[in-house]
Amino acid sequence: MKRAIYPGSFDPVTKGHLDVIARSARLVDELVVGVLNNSAKNALFSIQERVNMLKELISEFPNVTVDAFDGLLVDYAKRIDAAIIVRGLRAVTDFEYELQIAQTNHEIYADLETIFLTTRLEYAYLSSTIVKEVASYGGDISRFLPPQIIPRVYEKYGIKDFGK
Ligand code: PNS
Repeated sequence: MKRAIYPGSFDPVTKGHLDVIARSARLVDELVVGVLNNSAKNALFSIQERVNMLKELISEFPNVTVDAFDGLLVDYAKRIDAAIIVRGLRAVTDFEYELQIAQTNHEIYADLETIFLTTRLEYAYLSSTIVKEVASYGGDISRFLPPQIIPRVYEKYGIKDFGK
């Protein structure tokens, strides 16, 4: 049985993330979406909020689960017996960073392989950081995020009359 982990901050989950989840779930028997609980990073959403949002969104995929992790990704992967790490590659700017992480992880734990899915062109520019920047000024984020997530992001910035 092939179990994979799709790790990330998911602060918040975007349509780009969901696309990677849907596509990678078809490639493996079981996919665990691993949400990094990193207290050093200044997250907009708490770990529980991020996990809950993902759980709501993945209910249509029978072989996908969501979990929080902290510490090294390789240690978590070992613990849950995952042999594959899935990451999305948006553009060449992602490449250097992702290559470095994948090679380091492989060096630490040789049984773990990282596979990359190139994001669909329509999501190639999309990042949680940029979405938060737009939302913080009350800009329109409706095409970037799943509909149920949108009001929660504006709420964090105290914006009530969004989309008007
Ligand atoms: O969504 P992100 O923030 O790009 O995801 C980054 C993530 C969570 C994949 C990466 O930061 C990670 O794996 N962190 C866990 C700590 C770790 O293992 N770091 C060493 C990688 S060399």
